[in-house]
Amino acid sequence: MNVEDGKKRTHYCGQLRPRHEGEEVVLAGWVQTRRDHGGVIFIDLRDRTGIVQVVFNPEISEEAHSIAGRARSEFVLWCRGTVRRRPQDAVNPHLATGEVEVFAKKVEVLSESKTPPFEIQDGVGVDEALRLRYRYLDLRRPEMREAMLLRAGTMRKVREYLEAHGFVEIETPMLTKSTPEGARDFVVPSRLQPGHFYALPQSPQLFKQLLMVAGFDRYYQIVKCFRDEDFRADRQPEFTQIDLEMSFAEADDVMSLMEGMFSRLYREICSREVELPFPRISYHESLELYGNDRPDMRYGMKIVELSGIFAHSELRIFQESLSRGERIRGFRIEGLSSPTRKILDQMVDFAKAQGAAGLIWVVREGEDLNSPVAKFLSVKEKAELSAALGLGQGDVGLLLVGAMEKTSEVLARLRRYCVENFSPPKKSDLSLVWVVDFPLFEWDEKEGRYKSNHHPFTSPKRESLEILEERPLEVLSDTYDLVINGVEVGGGSIRIHQRSVQEAVFRVLGLSEEETKEKFGFLLEAFEYGPPPHGGVAFGLDRIVMLLAGKESIRDVIAFPKTQSGVDLLTGAPDVLYPQQLKELRIRPL
Ligand code: AMO
Repeated sequence: MNVEDGKKRTHYCGQLRPRHEGEEVVLAGWVQTRRDHGGVIFIDLRDRTGIVQVVFNPEISEEAHSIAGRARSEFVLWCRGTVRRRPQDAVNPHLATGEVEVFAKKVEVLSESKTPPFEIQDGVGVDEALRLRYRYLDLRRPEMREAMLLRAGTMRKVREYLEAHGFVEIETPMLTKSTPEGARDFVVPSRLQPGHFYALPQSPQLFKQLLMVAGFDRYYQIVKCFRDEDFRADRQPEFTQIDLEMSFAEADDVMSLMEGMFSRLYREICSREVELPFPRISYHESLELYGNDRPDMRYGMKIVELSGIFAHSELRIFQESLSRGERIRGFRIEGLSSPTRKILDQMVDFAKAQGAAGLIWVVREGEDLNSPVAKFLSVKEKAELSAALGLGQGDVGLLLVGAMEKTSEVLARLRRYCVENFSPPKKSDLSLVWVVDFPLFEWDEKEGRYKSNHHPFTSPKRESLEILEERPLEVLSDTYDLVINGVEVGGGSIRIHQRSVQEAVFRVLGLSEEETKEKFGFLLEAFEYGPPPHGGVAFGLDRIVMLLAGKESIRDVIAFPKTQSGVDLLTGAPDVLYPQQLKELRIRPL
């Protein structure tokens, strides 16, 4: 760096305060703005810590003033000057350094910049594709910088916490064999073993279990995982897990240790106390009351069972549905009173778009109910419905008819729709809840076979062991998912550690003995050498940071994320390979 007498930076821009008055400082940073005020030039100089105003007065240095005159936005400057307090009427209350300014004696342009494709400022509404294409400029914005620093702080605190509780960080392979976590694998062709492929890990699940067999007792890793699945705002093809495993632990041990970690993160990062222990809800109860396994308990709008009220209904769809063993459920919308017909029609359209055959709305008007089906409802039914939903004057109830599996998710989405559109009153502004006791298996209609609800290494509850192979759908598992504000941030379980139970689970999943041996033989073999009982959990770091930072998408807390279609707009990945590379890998071009 060709700077005067090789002099090094003494301070970051954002650090300067009135206590530095009179000190000579050396700064280095980017030009945020330059203003020419009747001969005196003001440059807002920016670095990782913030902005400070630098004043170039020709009476102090003609040369510095003239160089500053040529500086443009995003030029990189080195400058030496003296800190002064700003006059009272020039104090900028919006800037942490707003009480001071630096009077420059010397300046150098270290590098120049083209005019950036967007302003390096928050809140200017730039298209996300453009931000991702020029991510290194986007990351200069305070909002993005803060998010990255918050992410680094979160990782540091997680490490401190886990280290303090005896966890050892151990790396596991990235070039490995497929680990079933329910998504497709990203694969890497092997040059030395033509026709063979490594899989990038969907999680370190099997390795962390082997580390328990190895006797490490408490393992953790902040680790990249890869899943080739459809992307959404809270999913990326590569993402980061806070992954851990403990020997000789029960579900309660894992949960309470993790509650300690989250309460520390909320205290130290968001300055707020969270109540311990976190509430727990069973998977089945969550489906009943909130429609899915990601309950957002900040809001009321609990789902109510209404089938009993309509046992003798005159309404055909109710009769038919109930005779098929289906159910009628609904909830009262909070935050919406006496809506227009248009709003109600929009809700019906929304429900249909989510796959519902229809949606029935009711609005309480006096002692009566207004609804497209009102004339088919008896006075008694109306009164009971009003009471069950808790309808006050003008309140709206929504009813869905159908099989539990079909209507639950629609009800959950309708709840979300109401949260987004009608600002229902909040019971609290933070909802942390463990969803526990998931069924071990679910039936995959399309493939006509059982699938693991989490992954095949999850332990059935002790009391379910007897029915494992006879009645798989009734088997409950020792699982716990952590859901914050309706977002699934983590999941874990107590694991199977007996070879015979693991083999039985593989049988239910329809794996032949050969397949089991070929895919998981190494795990079953390890289970023959003194595996300790163990369990663990993994959290999505990106989702946790998104929530701590109050963002809507994990892309906003990842330095170089991919788009919804899995493309890196900055580097252009994924890309084609040169013919020579394909030849070496024995892959024929398309
Ligand atoms: P699971 O599959 O539930 O469990 O993953 C754990 C957590 O990882 C996060 N996550 C993701 N985040 C961003 N993008 C994705 N594509 C993505 N997929 C998952 C979620 C999720 O809760 N091995 C088990 C854990 C265990 O049993 O210990 C596992 O990976 O926040």
